[in-house]
Amino acid sequence: MTAAVSASAPGKIILTGEHFVVHGSYAVAAGINRRVRVTVKPSKNGFSSIASGKDSSKVASEDGKFRAAKTIIRKLVQDYEQNSNPIEVQIDSDIPAGSGLGSSAAVSVACTAAITKYFGNIVSSKDLFALAMFGEKQVHGNPSGIDIEASISGGIILFNKSTGAKTIKTQNRVSLGVIYSGEKRSTSLLVAKVARQRDAHPNFFRNLTKSASYQSLELTDALNRGDVERIGTLFNIAQTELEWIGVSTPSIQKIIERVSGEGTYGAKITGAGGGGSIIVAAKPQILSSLINSLIANYPHSFVTQLNQEGLRWEP
Ligand code: PMV
Repeated sequence: MTAAVSASAPGKIILTGEHFVVHGSYAVAAGINRRVRVTVKPSKNGFSSIASGKDSSKVASEDGKFRAAKTIIRKLVQDYEQNSNPIEVQIDSDIPAGSGLGSSAAVSVACTAAITKYFGNIVSSKDLFALAMFGEKQVHGNPSGIDIEASISGGIILFNKSTGAKTIKTQNRVSLGVIYSGEKRSTSLLVAKVARQRDAHPNFFRNLTKSASYQSLELTDALNRGDVERIGTLFNIAQTELEWIGVSTPSIQKIIERVSGEGTYGAKITGAGGGGSIIVAAKPQILSSLINSLIANYPHSFVTQLNQEGLRWEP
């Protein structure tokens, strides 16, 4: 009998360019120190199943659960002609779903890697990206692919839909604060809302898309130098533009006001917005205490360094 295979992949934060990246801009993303682990083993029940926490489902069932992962499992079972070899897929995640921290992409990436290896193949990063995208498209409609790319590679990437990802190096280790508002949201609805804004104000939107590219290139330089103050300034500019396109919410504004003050350089939405999470750049001496002061109200608040490992095999 085939032995169990486990892989894990990190969630991500987007530092600049979310939404505009869907319309062709550059964006910057980084892996975070919160991961998803996926284990694949032979099924004892005669059918393939998938489970996470208390939730479970048959892969053949159309109950709306685990849609991206099921799409990937079905495709791989078909591609590898493994219909008579049912599997049990177990997901263990420390990334809240719907938080804007890339839990869905990390599930798709770790799932694809673990299942292909279980069926006797190690696929290239390019094929892994394509397979994980195939799953994500079922859920998000028109994803740029930045979440998946960041989850595969870890580290920090400068990403563009047409040209792909380039690694960004930092001289100093840069850490940022991450705060989940607790407000879940749907990426696809927010992406559709932004597309309506683009259609209503095409010239304005084109300029914002260009601006997101300039911010991303400037941020790349700030990261190269480890200049946290400039990183924060760029976050504030990006946040203003995200507010203009209507993806900020009162709960996001409240957190941004709460983290603003002595020693904080800037804060913004990370990911699709509409709730979800924010990131904050602050003086290294105050970052941990700032984040600790938020945990009572926002339990998913943490500090992450931007040098996280991407996809990896687990024992
Ligand atoms: O789903 P999130 O919150 O990780 O956001 C994804 C980033 C977007 O730019 C809004 C969509 C995309 O596919 O790039």
